Amino acid sequence: MSKQQVTEFSKLIEESKIEDIREEVNLVLEGQYKYAYEAMMDAYNAGLFVGLVGPVGCGKTALCRKFAYDLNQEFYWVTFSDLVRPSTLIGSFDPTLVFKFGFSPDSYIPGPFSLAALKGGVFLANELNRGDEYVLNSMLDTMEERRLYIPQLKTWLRAKDKFYVIAAMNPAELRGTRKLPSAIKDRIKVWIHLGYPPKSLEQKIMVANCPEYQLSALTQEKIIEIMTQCRQDHAVERPPSLRTSIGLARFVSQRAQRLNIQVDNKLIAESARLILQDSIELRPGTDAEQFIKNILTKVIGVS
Ligand SMILES: Nc1ncnc2c1ncn2[C@@H]1O[C@H](COP(=O)(O)OP(=O)(O)OP(=O)(O)O)[C@@H](O)[C@H]1O
Ligand SMILES: [Mg+2]
Repeated sequence: MSKQQVTEFSKLIEESKIEDIREEVNLVLEGQYKYAYEAMMDAYNAGLFVGLVGPVGCGKTALCRKFAYDLNQEFYWVTFSDLVRPSTLIGSFDPTLVFKFGFSPDSYIPGPFSLAALKGGVFLANELNRGDEYVLNSMLDTMEERRLYIPQLKTWLRAKDKFYVIAAMNPAELRGTRKLPSAIKDRIKVWIHLGYPPKSLEQKIMVANCPEYQLSALTQEKIIEIMTQCRQDHAVERPPSLRTSIGLARFVSQRAQRLNIQVDNKLIAESARLILQDSIELRPGTDAEQFIKNILTKVIGVS
């Protein structure tokens, strides 16, 4: 790397630094979200860990962020997958520092889980059931006994009283997920199940996520009805998420603005064809293009 590149990169790092990792989340806290939020607060105050289960894009992570923000504690998270190892959670030793200082606290780089435990923060185990059992087990002692063992330091460390764990995951039948090991499942005592919200609430959430655009109530209803029809159809294996209704609303609004036209059914149909194609998964043997055309004809009479 040239000296110029190094300077440019350091500048980028400096500009992009997030001083406060907690970010305010503007959530529509109604219906199932209000119910879940209140249950999360009760679980927290009762000293019980909480888990959220729900389909793709129904608002689990957004709710966890809001919860962590409102608790006013430091917030750490890991999104689990096969690539996450115990060292991703607990931390590891920097070999060059070990060479200098040996296995000492000075050469230890903590992971988000150990940081949350030692600093008394909130740790979000995002997509918990996409993690390897061996990795999940590395959190058990800290969750139960509130202490953390770092073998190289030959020391047990105590987690601060405020240390708290929340988990979010898709239901077990979804592709890429595993059955949660009973040891971890039993340590999370309050499980809250979310689904896609009813039409009126989804419409509110969609509008809240497009603050810079103005869509007529009729267009909003049409977009939500397209989502509802997709979700109700047996040919759909993975239904459209809230990201899809929000995405369609934003795309339609942006197109209408650029073309300087009013949103009409033709514009909704051509936008929906673009967005829906890869936002849903259909049962094998179902023709996606035809499926989308049928839904659009049913809802807005144009495909
Ligand atoms: N109650 C809500 N109020 C406002 N926006 C919301 C609400 N619920 C969800 N959203 C928005 O919907 C989108 C999807 O939410 P989120 O990412 O939390 O879903 P998720 O359930 O974690 O999805 P995944 O299963 O893919 O991880 C986000 O843009 C989020 O901000
Ligand atoms: Mg999520």
